[in-house]
Amino acid sequence: RTPMTLPRFVAAKSAGRKLAVLTAYDALTARLFEEAGVDALLVGDTVGVVVQGHATTLPVTVEQIVYHTAAVVRGRDAGGGRAMVIADLPFLSYQTSVADAVRNAGRMLKEGGAGAVKLEGGGVDHGETIAAIAAAGVPVMAHIGLKPQSVHAVGGHRVQRDVDALVADAVGAEAAGAFAIVLELVNDEVAQAVTRAVGIPTIGIGAGPHCDGQVLVGADMLGLNPGFAPKFLKKYADLGSETRRAAAAYCEEVRGGAYPAAEHTHR
Ligand code: KIV
Ligand code: NA
Repeated sequence: RTPMTLPRFVAAKSAGRKLAVLTAYDALTARLFEEAGVDALLVGDTVGVVVQGHATTLPVTVEQIVYHTAAVVRGRDAGGGRAMVIADLPFLSYQTSVADAVRNAGRMLKEGGAGAVKLEGGGVDHGETIAAIAAAGVPVMAHIGLKPQSVHAVGGHRVQRDVDALVADAVGAEAAGAFAIVLELVNDEVAQAVTRAVGIPTIGIGAGPHCDGQVLVGADMLGLNPGFAPKFLKKYADLGSETRRAAAAYCEEVRGGAYPAAEHTHR
């Protein structure tokens, strides 16, 4: 398989080739998703919720994303090394100044081994930051619609429907040099309008079928988070139930003496 370079990722839009992206935070999962053929692995700041157990993504640090990115890169390479690894810039790593943004974005490539970064924002609010990161040679993905790092300002997770504002934010992101745009929790009309308005791929989550690609949190689509069932989420497996079943069977066999059996025992 051909490695997913930045030009190939961008060209997928005009070629009509939909992009399939999943989040991963560890080498084991990254390797399996790579072997399954994903186009990109996003080391999302959702690691704060999925792995760390926080209620929001806000506590996640630059060091943590660097650490998880390095693990994902090693897993990706072990699985064949084709997918692009995109490191998410966590809260307060790019909002404080353009210089901080460039430095922290660069760390994701320099220390984490990522091929690109993502920040929450578009051209209207973060145009200057996107331009500076791109000018430093760091491919940068914008993220508009629902922006979970702004959850306290927004007051919750609501479907975003302001088509004119979102198109302006997307067009501005492309003009500033973003190579793609995540569209999170927007209605179908917005997704279609934004996707038509820009020449770079839109990657949707909760944004319907008109985006150029899709992204899901890996653990969510695997059914590892049984209580989480938003409308947009399709669960492609029920690994939550499967994990509980397997662990309960192990406990029972250890307590009953059925495990380890003769075939597990060195003689
Ligand atoms: O952090 C994350 O997982 C994300 C995706 C949901 C787009 O930003
Ligand atoms: Na994120």
